[in-house]
Amino acid sequence: MNSTCPPFRIKVVEPIPVTTREIREAALQQAGYNLFRVPAQKVGIDLLTDSGTGAMSAAQWAHAFEADEAYAGAQSFQRFERTVRAITGMEQVLPVHQGRAGERIVFEVVVREGDLVPSNHAFDTTRANLERRGARVIDIPHPSSRDPLAPAPFKGDIDLERLEEILRTSTSRIPLVLITVTDNTGGGQPVQPSNVVAAARLCKQHGIPMWIDAARFAENAGLVLERDPESRGRSPREIARQIFDLADGALMSCKKDGMANIGGFVALRSRELYERLAEVTIATEGFVTYGGLAGRDLDAIATGLEEALDPGYLTHRLGQVRHLHASLTALGIPCVTPPGGHAVFVDAGALLPHIPADRFPGHSLALELYREAGIRSCEIGTLMFCGGKDPKPPDSELLRLALPRRVYETAHLDYVAAALGRIRGRARELPGYRILEGHGPLRHFTARLEPVPA
Ligand SMILES: Cc1ncc(COP(=O)(O)O)c(C=O)c1O
Repeated sequence: MNSTCPPFRIKVVEPIPVTTREIREAALQQAGYNLFRVPAQKVGIDLLTDSGTGAMSAAQWAHAFEADEAYAGAQSFQRFERTVRAITGMEQVLPVHQGRAGERIVFEVVVREGDLVPSNHAFDTTRANLERRGARVIDIPHPSSRDPLAPAPFKGDIDLERLEEILRTSTSRIPLVLITVTDNTGGGQPVQPSNVVAAARLCKQHGIPMWIDAARFAENAGLVLERDPESRGRSPREIARQIFDLADGALMSCKKDGMANIGGFVALRSRELYERLAEVTIATEGFVTYGGLAGRDLDAIATGLEEALDPGYLTHRLGQVRHLHASLTALGIPCVTPPGGHAVFVDAGALLPHIPADRFPGHSLALELYREAGIRSCEIGTLMFCGGKDPKPPDSELLRLALPRRVYETAHLDYVAAALGRIRGRARELPGYRILEGHGPLRHFTARLEPVPA
């Protein structure tokens, strides 16, 4: 099978809401020009996120049905724990209800006021959870990531020179270094194993733990397999394991490569730290064998984690992203290159040069795509990143088209590309936007805005 031919067939279907331009315009006004506030029944193709929006397999549903809902020590937890241990090689496993719950729990225990956390790119909730602890995050992505059009294969890498300098000279305490695989914020770009090897060596030299944000660990392995000559002939599971083996702990949102609609985990090696995390988990998430999840979620995730590492699935998944990227590029729409693992990132700053960053070109393009064709997407730029403390302007103003797993077909992706092609023809007419309400690092979720003619 080639990469656009799905390695699955459809068993259950869900109708897509059909709306008119008038309905969508009214929905935008009511939502304060914020797509997070638009009701899903007014969205045709929903590319807002790949998080928790995938289709579960028949095997996942079957295991979910068989699940054990015991409060403590359920068989579903044992299966979950066995799977996480086998994939990560980490003995201590705490389920949590989603990725950010794991962030909150780990940071509550290991992060203190005034700390500094270096990362290739901390995701927005990760940053917010660190800032809530009074810490500062410093993103040090590889220099190649600064040019969205440079065809560098591993733009998710951490900048090792900067990391070395920070570890050597920082006057703030550094409780951990966090490597996000793939780098969602930077375009879903992969991190190569040799970069993690070098980062782990530096962390070890300075006695600082290294953690992995593993939300898209399987997609990262798939992209490494395609792009890293040193990894040829290895399985996605082996590549993923090599990266986990280098880390002290992992944070995982199972709403991505857990192929589930909810869930997450914290995995780590230290029993002593596990005990401290367990205390916070019991107080705020639930007992350590369910962590805010139902047994059926634990079973669905255990199966999903295995399915995410299936080479046939990964070929199709990465092929879909590549297909959308190629279709847009052929229409002259600038996209972050090369394509990442879960989304295509359109360079909205380049497409709408008349809209300054503080009038949110990525957001403007997202709103127009919804108005034009009922497609929901998401800004990854100044609106998302500049509401927190010490805002650092992002290198680019992007529009993210995130592909839910196993949900849309090639024809849907072609519909998306055609809509953006039409918008490109009148890009100069698009307005900027101004915030009326909403502040803080997570303002993009709740803000209300209004158009400002460019
Ligand atoms: C890289 C990364 N880390 C953490 C999270 C947070 O996970 P969750 O949405 O499950 O809380 C996300 C969510 O999109 C993410 O992309």
